[in-house]
Amino acid sequence: PERCVVAVDGPSGSGKSTVSRRLATAIDGVYLDTGAMYRAITWAVLQAGADLQDADAIVKIAQETTLSIGTDPLAPRFRVNGTDVDAAIRGPEVTGAVSAVAAVPAVRAMLVRLQREIISAAPRIVVEGRDIATVVAPDAELKVYLTASAAARAQRRSAEDATDVAATEADLNRRDQLDSSRAADPLRQADDAVTVDTTGMGIDEVVAHLLSMLNSKV
Ligand code: C5P
Repeated sequence: PERCVVAVDGPSGSGKSTVSRRLATAIDGVYLDTGAMYRAITWAVLQAGADLQDADAIVKIAQETTLSIGTDPLAPRFRVNGTDVDAAIRGPEVTGAVSAVAAVPAVRAMLVRLQREIISAAPRIVVEGRDIATVVAPDAELKVYLTASAAARAQRRSAEDATDVAATEADLNRRDQLDSSRAADPLRQADDAVTVDTTGMGIDEVVAHLLSMLNSKV
């Protein structure tokens, strides 16, 4: 396709990142990891030592933060105020705090605006997150809601992070609960999104399925 936006939403560990990056490469497009944007702001908030209950302090830090957002699907590198944060934003401190920061409406408004700018500048882009089809890009050509059983999601995440499966499952459940129940742009499937349950599916299989859906639409 000449131009296309693919929205990939779903809970943590559903395979969004791996699948989105592979799909972006397959369509010779770029990749936007909106979760990494919320993580990067969270890293700045923790770095500043702000109270996670203090929404005003969080918003102020977010406004003063300079984000550099990589969109190469093979190496999406992020910088915060010039510091390379790719490893740090995947660490337990950021993972533990990100849902609180992402629940602040003014932080979301700021990042959604940035996401839309990046999307409109890219001819072909795969965007992954929680609210892409519902809020950020409701006009996307293809909207996918990726899911998988809680056990499968925990197993994948713990294999990636080399952490304990039970602890990972508890953490995923905690974040999904927070992300689905917040007032501002909660995780929710768009009415016109296609659900793909990736439990027991291989990555190649999922990517091939999305590509064939995309080819039949554009
Ligand atoms: O996708 P990832 O697990 O990196 O996202 C981290 C967190 O960022 C999510 O748990 C959620 O709180 C938040 N997020 C969001 N909206 C998005 C993407 C991520 O609220 N579009």
